[in-house]
Amino acid sequence: MRIAAYHRYGAPEVVGVEERERPEPGPGEVRVRVQAASVGAADAAGRSGSPWFARLAFGLRRPRNPVLGSDFAGVVDAVGPGVTHFAAGDRVFGATGAEGGAHAEAVVVGEDGAIVPLPDDVSVEAAVAICDGAMTALPFLRDAGRVGRGSRVLVNGASGAVGSAAVQLAAHLGAEVTAVCGPAHVDLVAGLGAARVVDYTREDPMRAGAPGAPFDVVFDAVGKATYRRARAVLAPDGRYLTTVPSWTILAQQLTTRLGRRRAIVRFTGLRSAEAKRPDLEHLAALAAAGEFAPLVERVLPLDDVAGAHRLVDTGHKAGTVVVTPAPEYQEA
Ligand SMILES: NC(=O)c1ccc[n+]([C@@H]2O[C@H](COP(=O)([O-])OP(=O)(O)OC[C@H]3O[C@@H](n4cnc5c(N)ncnc54)[C@H](OP(=O)(O)O)[C@@H]3O)[C@@H](O)[C@H]2O)c1
Repeated sequence: MRIAAYHRYGAPEVVGVEERERPEPGPGEVRVRVQAASVGAADAAGRSGSPWFARLAFGLRRPRNPVLGSDFAGVVDAVGPGVTHFAAGDRVFGATGAEGGAHAEAVVVGEDGAIVPLPDDVSVEAAVAICDGAMTALPFLRDAGRVGRGSRVLVNGASGAVGSAAVQLAAHLGAEVTAVCGPAHVDLVAGLGAARVVDYTREDPMRAGAPGAPFDVVFDAVGKATYRRARAVLAPDGRYLTTVPSWTILAQQLTTRLGRRRAIVRFTGLRSAEAKRPDLEHLAALAAAGEFAPLVERVLPLDDVAGAHRLVDTGHKAGTVVVTPAPEYQEA
């Protein structure tokens, strides 16, 4: 089978297509023909070995695992002994997490992992966009932000994979959403359900008295703001949530723990498979019902995996970049 592999940290060109033997599923495992996989921020960090803490996860001097890709969607084409939940031919999607391996024509996952059936009405591209964006946005908003009906929410980075999902899901939860993005994406973001859109090149969304303030939640989906800046627009018991770790936010998370205003960073990829499965099912059901539209920036063949990494590296993609390792595959 074909895989996208890399053996040293570096620019997008370090990733190329290679041949490898197809893996066989062991007891309790299923093999999925991967029709779509996301190339996201974590893959770019794993490929470049930057920022430095990425190397704690991916390997200190060189990458430990040559195949990136933590989100997959496709069709089960083989099952190992003892598998009861899935059969060959099932459409499925899910996340391999830190193990990666999805940038390949086939990936083997445990049936007790983060894998669920994919409804017929949801495309494989939309499915991996759910994994890439909404699977982070939902736990941040619902669990860390306690967003609900009437919450006032600011989403910074509203056109990205996480941000575009956050705008839609916050609105779905009943919040009034102020969305922040650059000039190229204002119209697109306005269509996601935000009450207002702020172009960060024209006005500072985090100055006192900014439109929509005060906010119950400032969700910094791209980590381009700071708690210090966000305080100017946070309600007295508001929460600043960020996806991007730093020593400062880790310290602020501790120091604000007992106060009314909180600073919070979370690592959604580290959640257990048991926690991820119901969210995957819930988000797929929302997408199937047309209540949430996962945003896809572009779909590229596996051969152009370096091009996919280049798009991610721009820092200005809208939604998820998708590669299609086994696009032709229909059934077992
Ligand atoms: N902690 C976790 O559990 C977790 C989980 C998943 C992801 N993450 C992290 O979350 C971050 C976002 O991921 P993503 O996939 O959503 O990123 P992304 O899709 O690459 O985000 C790109 C978007 O960021 C916007 N942007 C760029 N500069 C901005 C600025 N100064 N102010 C506001 N928006 C700006 C761009 O908007 P314009 O083009 O319109 O300027 C672009 O649409 C990454 O750093 C990723 O590593 C963390």
